[in-house]
Amino acid sequence: MNVEKIIQIAKKRGFIFPSSEIYGGISGTYDFGPIGFLLKKKIIEYWREFFLKDDNIFEIETSLIMPEKVFEASGHLKGFVDPITQCKKCKALYRADHLIEESLHIFTEGLSIEELTKIIKENNIKCPKCGGELEEVKVFNLMFELGIGPLKDSKGYLRPETAQGIFVNFKNVFNSLRAKLPFGIAQIGKSFRNEIAPRQWLIRMREFTQMEIEFFINPEEKKFEKLKKYENVKIRVLTREAQKNNGKEEEMSIKEALEKNIIPSEYMAYFIAKEQIFYENLGIPKEAIRFRHLLPEETPHYSKGNVDMEIKFDFGWKEVVGNAYRSDYDLKKHSEFSGEKLIVTLDNGKQVIPHVIEPSFGIERTIYAILLYSFVEDEKRGWDWFNFAPKIAPISVAVFPLLNKEEMIKKAEEIFENLKMEFDSIFDKSGSIGKRYARADEIGIPFCITVDYQSLEDNTVTVRNRNTTQQLRVSLKDLKEFLREKANSLSIQ
Ligand code: GAP
Repeated sequence: MNVEKIIQIAKKRGFIFPSSEIYGGISGTYDFGPIGFLLKKKIIEYWREFFLKDDNIFEIETSLIMPEKVFEASGHLKGFVDPITQCKKCKALYRADHLIEESLHIFTEGLSIEELTKIIKENNIKCPKCGGELEEVKVFNLMFELGIGPLKDSKGYLRPETAQGIFVNFKNVFNSLRAKLPFGIAQIGKSFRNEIAPRQWLIRMREFTQMEIEFFINPEEKKFEKLKKYENVKIRVLTREAQKNNGKEEEMSIKEALEKNIIPSEYMAYFIAKEQIFYENLGIPKEAIRFRHLLPEETPHYSKGNVDMEIKFDFGWKEVVGNAYRSDYDLKKHSEFSGEKLIVTLDNGKQVIPHVIEPSFGIERTIYAILLYSFVEDEKRGWDWFNFAPKIAPISVAVFPLLNKEEMIKKAEEIFENLKMEFDSIFDKSGSIGKRYARADEIGIPFCITVDYQSLEDNTVTVRNRNTTQQLRVSLKDLKEFLREKANSLSIQ
């Protein structure tokens, strides 16, 4: 897996650029170019279609700036912290837990700052840059603080997750929809975390995009009918025991994971099964997807269970989707701090605080995984290409005149004009046809349409399949219908 090469191509071909690059940039921030933007947009559209449409889940868009009180209530002000340590000599800053994990290969989750300091001292861990001694471990809050208004006298923060915008709007949304449990509220948008050491390209960023669902349920209702359809979906699970014993993932059905209490609720099981299918459909191999049951020390006290969906990257496994059964914690806290009653009256008149199941997806990590697993280093072809599922391919169709001849160019332009409002298309007449195929492959265009001599005679074109490179002759009158079906499918065959 050649990530450096992918990063280079991503920049060269308009997927992803370092942000504010001409001024040296800010680490942990990236911009999406025209091709990357389309890829991201299509992943989002597919996510909406797959997770929201059928499930009584409503999307909202809330402010990125939120007042301090929200985060007092949510616990972020106190708890959204990382342990840091600074070199006494060169002043370099480190995340203490990461530094220990990298130096000693031990698990540090759940350790206090005193314990981390002790480990650093006892094991004589020094500054990796200059060998200097390290300061005591302190906590650092990851939220970006804002002074709101001209006097900056009102304190706020850039949201560190989209979820809080959902919780603070619970009452508004519930009343406006006249909703009934179970129902969900989703949000797609930017979140901000002042990561101490942004790294690994799109993995640890300071500004990133989340797609989150808060699915509100009746706490007394344990059964979810819709799970039936998915209970036999197979997933690979990293159990708590396996984590303690350096063991491996086990394959089991969703039903088994529920029975073994790895997944704490049928509602969460439903989302987990769909996550498995969604990521496989995006081109991530089965063996590169696993669900990790978080250890007790990693699980927040209010949670009835957390299960992370992890993907195997070039550098190792990493969380891409967090699943949490947050119980009634968030609504209770916001109720307490705001004085608003955040409750639901059931059909039988009983009032309850809904429980919430939260699947939280990171888009940039998803994109990293897709780029990694769809990248094909193709010596035979002589160029590398992306094997995107047509449904998420940034550009669906390229239109070429075979030769630089006026009639062919004119006809190809006409076809392009006709297609471009319906399909993301490009027109390319420069260079040899081989070079144009190469450029199209490099951004993963699944279908290349070529106008040749025969096209001028019988109104047919060739359609080249990116994966097989085989060409099919299609009549112009059938072309749109042909593309409609193919461009929206998950597989190119
Ligand atoms: N509301 C729950 C929540 O925010 P999280 O596990 O902190 O949970 C959810 O984040 C997802 O957001 C992660 O699985 C990951 O995909 C993405 N994410 C979190 N921090 C990130 C960062 N610094 N850079 C890129 N993506 C990040």
